[in-house]
Amino acid sequence: MSDPQPVYLSDYQPPAYLVTHTELTFDLDPAATRVKARLQIERHPSADSQAPLVLNGEHLTLISLAIDGSPLADAAYQLTDEVLHIADVPETFMLESEVELAPSSNTALEGLYQSNGMYCTQCEAEGFRRITYYPDRPDVMATFKVTVIGNATSEPVLLANGNPVDQGALENGRHFATWEDPHPKPCYLFALVAGNLHKVEDSFETVSGRNVTLQLWVEQENLDKTEHAMASLKRAMAWDEQTYGREYDLDLFMIVAVNDFNMGAMENKGLNIFNSAAVLTHPNTATDAAFQNVEGIVAHEYFHNWSGNRVTCRDWFQLSLKEGFTVFRDQCFSADTNSAPVKRIQDVSFFRTAQFAEDAGPTAHPIRPDHFIEITNFYTLTIYEKGAEVVRMLRNLLGWEDFRRGSDLYFERFDGQAVTIEDFVGCMAEVSDVDLSQFMRWYSQAGTPEIDAHGEYDYAHGEYHLTLRQRTPATPGQSDKLPLHIPVRMGLVGTKSGQDLTLTLLGEKLGNDAVIHLTEDEQTFVFTDVAEAPVPSLLRDFSAPVKLHFPYSREDLAFLLTHDSDGFNRWDAGQRLAMLALDDLIAAHRNGVEKVMDSRVVEAFRTLLTSAMSDKAVLAEMLTLPSEAYIAEQQPIVDVDAIHAAREFVRQSLAVALRDEFVAVYKANQSDEPYAPTPEQIAQRSLKNVALTYLMAIEDEEGITFCETQFAAEHNMTDVRHALTLLVHSDRDDIASPALKAFGEKWAHDPLVMDQWFTIQVSRPQPDVLERVQYLMQHPAFSIKNPNKVRALVGAFAQNRINFHRLDGKGYALLADVVIELNRLNPEIAARLVTPLTRWQRFDEERQQLMRDELVRIKQEPLSSNVFEVVEKALA
Ligand code: ARG
Ligand code: ZN
Repeated sequence: MSDPQPVYLSDYQPPAYLVTHTELTFDLDPAATRVKARLQIERHPSADSQAPLVLNGEHLTLISLAIDGSPLADAAYQLTDEVLHIADVPETFMLESEVELAPSSNTALEGLYQSNGMYCTQCEAEGFRRITYYPDRPDVMATFKVTVIGNATSEPVLLANGNPVDQGALENGRHFATWEDPHPKPCYLFALVAGNLHKVEDSFETVSGRNVTLQLWVEQENLDKTEHAMASLKRAMAWDEQTYGREYDLDLFMIVAVNDFNMGAMENKGLNIFNSAAVLTHPNTATDAAFQNVEGIVAHEYFHNWSGNRVTCRDWFQLSLKEGFTVFRDQCFSADTNSAPVKRIQDVSFFRTAQFAEDAGPTAHPIRPDHFIEITNFYTLTIYEKGAEVVRMLRNLLGWEDFRRGSDLYFERFDGQAVTIEDFVGCMAEVSDVDLSQFMRWYSQAGTPEIDAHGEYDYAHGEYHLTLRQRTPATPGQSDKLPLHIPVRMGLVGTKSGQDLTLTLLGEKLGNDAVIHLTEDEQTFVFTDVAEAPVPSLLRDFSAPVKLHFPYSREDLAFLLTHDSDGFNRWDAGQRLAMLALDDLIAAHRNGVEKVMDSRVVEAFRTLLTSAMSDKAVLAEMLTLPSEAYIAEQQPIVDVDAIHAAREFVRQSLAVALRDEFVAVYKANQSDEPYAPTPEQIAQRSLKNVALTYLMAIEDEEGITFCETQFAAEHNMTDVRHALTLLVHSDRDDIASPALKAFGEKWAHDPLVMDQWFTIQVSRPQPDVLERVQYLMQHPAFSIKNPNKVRALVGAFAQNRINFHRLDGKGYALLADVVIELNRLNPEIAARLVTPLTRWQRFDEERQQLMRDELVRIKQEPLSSNVFEVVEKALA
């Protein structure tokens, strides 16, 4: 068999044939579903009259084929594993086909499959070709009429996109429902759901006074877990009207929760399908983080109705057009709904850990890749999160008002069309008159740009000279990089006054906080009328997705930590200060020198703990050290053990020095108010639990008692899970084991809680974790076919740095074994799971060899194109 081949953006051609209307009839059966399609097809005006009709289709058994009512002779078409090729077709015609497929054996969870007996679909990006023969590409848009026939007892509920237009009983206990979607759409937005589902219903009145019915469909036992998602949906609908002027366009909006789902959720027109983990919440079963995640994902999928569905992508290279924009929209929504600085801190700390790592590894790719083998491998942090950062930079460059005008123009001009990133950025340039030609490089150049900055204060002239130098490291396939247009939001904080000084550049007063534009390799900005020596506060609110290096002293950082007017940079100064201390300790550990705690970090923490800081959520973030993964990102070669030891040393030193303060914070932030996912309550819980984490770093007796009490009180899952995690991650197995057992038994019936139970155990630092993973993979609650379970158990283990990177290589081997098994069952999940092994270049030689050996072992298998593409890049 030959290796899978890439497709190239530069080969894009408009479709030779368009489908204007699609009618589908599904006769559902687990092993033999029949799908009849009637496609109204037209030749594209610019296509050659001799052009053949080429339809995608995979894993289908063709039963019949006809054009304008006449069955096609065998010689009239060719069929391969991937396409149906008809050489000679009229200019306009009706193509009728019938195929058979087996949802129950579809473990890839793409196309039509079964989850817990329920039928559901996932078509983005290229799943529709597993449902019927069709031009499966986003630039073919049709109206759809869909009839679903199912068993009235096992599938009482039959759903598809759009509006219900007919339903009724049939023979043999069967029944049907017909749905019509009046909005032309690409087939990746098609959806069907059938099963024994129950609904929660609500309504929303749109800004123009239309009443929209909102339905959340779940299995009966989950009816009590829908309230937060429904409330989030209504908030998102109102926010999109107010913020972007976007109104919903059907009379019905449905969300369905399914247990087996490859990703978070999917924006199918009028019928969003969600991973149950991304929609179900209850105070007793879901943490604050889960509540916030649900709110963000519900909003994200809803926002796609405009940024994605009404205006969609021309081809999959443009994926970030809809995803980057929509992530930016959901980030702003969550910031407006909760604590804006905390939202930014959390997003950026995740971004700098995970996206930076991706952008520095063998699978690094631009926001708009120019080729791919398997598009599912490109639903990445780069396309989504870096894409969102680039849209955010546009907002920063244009200002909100022009950005909004650009967005209005984009939606108006391209409504109902499948477009490109140039179309989007073009609207932004057109309304603002900002030249965005250099800015476009953000879309084509991979890798994280680094800015080396230095500054000098000239007392004699009252000037501050800031020099910024940018470089983007080489990435696979891109050795030479051009300078980018980087918006650097900044201030100069006076060391005497502690205040932002007025920025005057080339005689122009810019205010206290301004965006300067770095466009060349190196630029010096001379600020005049600077009355006192300043410390620069650079890249405020993380105004560009770059690594910024500035030779701050620890005194500078301690100063910014308390004086910077930008909340994000205050947090970042604390992180930088902690990093300097951690670097010293990592070096001490490697050199076998005694570790000494930097007293400046202790004092900075003491100030934080005792100053009456009003925003508890920000305070909790400021008291949290950089994660081991983030620290690793900063090292040229990752020393897993030294990082762990250094970070533990800092945690323990802080806990010893500030023990009483942590106890006081813990006590002051207890509450027996009934649970609500409000920003105030969430802030209080996170602060309390951060304090408890420090106390448990030294296994403080009182801390242990707090944990036991908090666990036993069963007040809400945030507190219960946190207490249980701290106990399980401590050496107090005498308390932890019974608690873990009780928790596992209590929640054995709830898959989403069992996911948490798995994760808690396999993320502990003790060396017995590998054996636990092996043991838990045999647990009745585990299933390798369920992506959530794989992520909760095996994925979480691969994030457990000291245990996954064991020097005997058994952690790597375990992951490789699971990847090999999943490669057959679910290639998309397998290709994601292998990621940690692809980062082998970052480790010491011994681990490099062990990791490579496992990649080579995987490579010897008959691989799916998904895993093939990732492993091939990793070994290149
Ligand atoms: N468009 C969906 C979202 O971002 C994700 C679809 C993922 N599809 C996939 N095959 N991985 O909301
Ligand atoms: Zn999305």
